[in-house]
Amino acid sequence: MPQQTNKSTTILGIETSCDETSVAVLREGKILANETSTQMEHTVHGGVVPELASRAHQQMIFPVVEKALKDAGVTLNELDAISYTHGPGLIGSLLVGASFAKGLSMAISKPLIPVNHMEAHVLAHLIKDPRIEENPKFPFLCLTVSGGHTQLIQVHSAFEFEVLGETIDDAAGEAFDKAAKIFGLPYPGGPHLDKIAQMGNPDKFTFSKPRVSDLNFSFSGLKTSVLYFVRDQVNKDPEFIQKNLADLCASVQKTIVDILLEGFIKAIKKTGSKRIALSGGVSANSELRKRTLALGKEKNLKTFTLPLEYCTDNAAMIAVSGYLKFIEGNVSSDLSLTPTARYAIGSAGT
Ligand code: KG4
Ligand code: ZN
Repeated sequence: MPQQTNKSTTILGIETSCDETSVAVLREGKILANETSTQMEHTVHGGVVPELASRAHQQMIFPVVEKALKDAGVTLNELDAISYTHGPGLIGSLLVGASFAKGLSMAISKPLIPVNHMEAHVLAHLIKDPRIEENPKFPFLCLTVSGGHTQLIQVHSAFEFEVLGETIDDAAGEAFDKAAKIFGLPYPGGPHLDKIAQMGNPDKFTFSKPRVSDLNFSFSGLKTSVLYFVRDQVNKDPEFIQKNLADLCASVQKTIVDILLEGFIKAIKKTGSKRIALSGGVSANSELRKRTLALGKEKNLKTFTLPLEYCTDNAAMIAVSGYLKFIEGNVSSDLSLTPTARYAIGSAGT
């Protein structure tokens, strides 16, 4: 049953699916605070170590909640519900956020709203923020590109997601991170590669592109192609990477963006979409943003990109997803619900 909302419907959002502890406060769709603590302990390991991630969430969750409430100027008593990431993600990390959300829900006697992380990446486009000129109307076609997912989604409503295609192996973010690792860049490599690529020639090196059916993607062949090419060149000249770093980064970035845009163009054709959107951590990539905006202009489509803060993992997207469920009356009081590491977008997730 739809909830009675008033001008001050206030939701706390908690995101702990991977290596960011993030908490947001939202009032009537508007973000009042979005506080994120990024775990740096994984850098030396070259990737996220699940146990370290759970411990860091446990350490940071309380201070981040306190800071978000303080920044928003909101007290616990003013909250109407608590939304949290129910999955997909690292189970130990999800359990920290879910347990905290349940405890808080009991303490203040307010409902819980479990949220699907991948739906939230898409629904970040409905956040009201002065930096976002306009929110897309439904339906819109969203390319979600993150560290674990690459999906083309026809978004029919805030609750209806049609997956048109997705990766059959690595995600686009993994392709960026693995290539960056081969080039010796720190983890997570995507943002470093993006920065260095800006000084390079994207046409200097050519890497293999996959052959996949329909609207699916594949990135594992690209990783192998980069690995073998660099290994052969380094055998001939040990300083090959240092001498060609910017061109290598620019060429890999161009290949990944080419693959993504080929799929996007096919999906635009298939759906006849007039509105396209980018979401997920990789949608912070400067080349992907630039070329998507150019594509939208060329095809006369409304094109939506997010402020960088809402591309990478953040609790604002969890809070807005929770808010949309709350106003539909879709809340839970089931304190026995446990988070789920695998949780397909649009599914029930139990
Ligand atoms: O959405 P996200 O924050 O976490 C997941 O749900 O996976 O995405 C993280 C991914 C990482 O692979 C990271 O390297 C990539 O997003 N990423 C980027 C950029 N910023 C973040 N990849 C390329 N260029 C960027 N500027
Ligand atoms: Zn994510």
